[in-house]
Amino acid sequence: MATKLYVYTGTGNSLWIARQLALELKEATIQFIPNLSRDLKMEVDRIGIIFPVHIWGLPGHVVRFIHHLQAKPETYFFALAVNASQPAATLMQLKKLMSTQGQSLALGCSFAMPSNYTPWGGPGPVETQQRLYREAQEKIKAVARAILRDGREKVDRGPLWQNIVFSWIYRMSFRSVPKMDKKFWLDDKCNDCGICSKVCPAGNIEMIHEKPTWLHRCEQCLACLQWCPQEAIQYGKKTVKYPRYHHPEVLLKDMIDQAKANKG
Ligand SMILES: Cc1cc2nc3c(=O)[nH]c(=O)nc-3n(C[C@H](O)[C@H](O)[C@H](O)COP(=O)(O)O)c2cc1C
Ligand code: SF4
Ligand code: SF4
Repeated sequence: MATKLYVYTGTGNSLWIARQLALELKEATIQFIPNLSRDLKMEVDRIGIIFPVHIWGLPGHVVRFIHHLQAKPETYFFALAVNASQPAATLMQLKKLMSTQGQSLALGCSFAMPSNYTPWGGPGPVETQQRLYREAQEKIKAVARAILRDGREKVDRGPLWQNIVFSWIYRMSFRSVPKMDKKFWLDDKCNDCGICSKVCPAGNIEMIHEKPTWLHRCEQCLACLQWCPQEAIQYGKKTVKYPRYHHPEVLLKDMIDQAKANKG
């Protein structure tokens, strides 16, 4: 049975996981999650949705995708929530959202990977990053076996303490995400290359007088900050002192392809 993997990513962790899973599943194709403004009919039998956890919940980009997704009732859906060890109730949120659309999530798995939320620190020591990649690789194999069985395995609920402590922050902040780009600023290393504008999946960065300008429809994926070759983009006060991150096997070209796919 053919599988379509829909992916969204800021720094490549989710794309890398999708690629590893596609190798295990064999008949799988990867597509970036499009920025949908109208319904999309899908005829595939098996669909995977792979995305990063943002602010203890689903990124708005994924929420919009689910709202516009029209699949056959018998479609086998699974989801991988890629995170930095705090998935909270993201997969349960997805399960509920899908059920309001008449769809059922058969399998939902959380994957801990290095953090790309630089305002709270770097991705951690290289050894820890390597360990996370190895553990993810093992988990991908197990998940692939479950998918190939079409197993109705359960959806990860997330640690209860995270659901209690953090899920309300998601609900409170969701509407203000587009304007969170007000905290981005440029230091004097910017050389006007325009890469930040090219990787932005939301078309939120325009080069005005050769400098990036944020347009307040941000998705907070942090691709601009992480992929700037000069490390010239800062967010708030602390990112100046933290290293940047992207998955070592994901390339700038992949990010530009994602942004192009979003433009449709
Ligand atoms: C705005 C933002 C919010 C985040 N919130 C969470 C979170 O609530 N819990 C968590 O575990 N990781 C969080 N992260 C970290 C990412 O989910 C994690 O690093 C993920 O592996 C990134 O995947 P990507 O490279 O595919 O974008 C956040 C990252 C960003 C940019
Ligand atoms: S990617 Fe960095 S250096 Fe290039 S224009 Fe953007 S901020 Fe400036
Ligand atoms: S402006 Fe930066 S953080 Fe916001 S959506 Fe674009 S790349 Fe992501």
